[in-house]
Amino acid sequence: MENTIEKIYSEALSEIDAASDRKTMEALSTRYLGRKGFVTQYLKGISSLPEAERPLAGKRSNEVKKELEARIAERLEAIEAAAEAADPGIDVTLPGRTEPTGSLHPLTRIMTEMCEIFARLGFSVVEGPEVEYDYYNFEALNIPKHHPARAMQDTFYISPETVLRTHTSSTQPRVMEKTQPPVRIIAPGKVYRCDSDLTHTPMFHQVEGLYVDEKVSFGDLKGVLTSFIHQMFDPGISLRFRPSYFPFTEPSAEVDIKCVACRGKGCRICSHTGWLEILGSGMVHPAVLENAGYDTSKVSGFAFGMGVERITMLKYGVDDIRKYFENDIRFLRQF
Ligand code: DAH
Repeated sequence: MENTIEKIYSEALSEIDAASDRKTMEALSTRYLGRKGFVTQYLKGISSLPEAERPLAGKRSNEVKKELEARIAERLEAIEAAAEAADPGIDVTLPGRTEPTGSLHPLTRIMTEMCEIFARLGFSVVEGPEVEYDYYNFEALNIPKHHPARAMQDTFYISPETVLRTHTSSTQPRVMEKTQPPVRIIAPGKVYRCDSDLTHTPMFHQVEGLYVDEKVSFGDLKGVLTSFIHQMFDPGISLRFRPSYFPFTEPSAEVDIKCVACRGKGCRICSHTGWLEILGSGMVHPAVLENAGYDTSKVSGFAFGMGVERITMLKYGVDDIRKYFENDIRFLRQF
């Protein structure tokens, strides 16, 4: 009798040790320990043994049952661990993947910064339409039909009377038409010109400014623009007002800053002049004020306009304007 349980035990052990997958192991568990398994059947048969043998046989059979159960559990665990080592699946101890966060486009950042600086100087932000009447883009700004300044601007015409605005200056007459002085606004936005190369794209951004009130002088223009440039670039930067011409201002001035790359020594970026042009400005031409119905014996004003791409290029050292519009994440991530 004892031989039989020991035989079952040793056979079971060698089969268990040879099994290498979960399914075989489960089959062995049923074969030996299930309701009709060898060990269970043996236990049931104990009652038919001679009385003297029963206690020992019962004790041993229960031991065998427990040992086989433990052995199966142990082997199952080893099989599972080996499977996991071969295919690690998810390692829950690794840090999770973070969602990449977006950031503002460099042009949006600079345009917002410009608006914030002018807001502190008392200007409020207005926006005008990109599809604009010829009247607001040219006529009201003292640029009549056949004026040579129209040829300079490479205009996209939508119809003889509508254009894609070539500058944000078109916002000036729109605001003046609806508002009595004092007027203190800046107008950021997209503008369009039929032009494309290393430094020009058919669409680009400008920020326009207009200040009209009693006794506004060229000194005010210089004060506001100097303060803006010092805040935008660096409080120590040198700048100069260079006489220029625009049909809608008289007198007109372009503003240059000391080259940010060579600090005025002369380099490729400043065409060896030591200076960088960053905006156009001037005292609003009386004809422009009169077109808006303003009394030029009482009020005067100044205006200015600047390219956002250009200022962003100078601030961040970007060398090709097209990079702003290619949406290359490696470029955009740097800001
Ligand atoms: N509109 C001009 C341009 O696109 C920039 C400009 C120059 C705007 C002088 C102004 C100004 O308001 O006074 O080049």
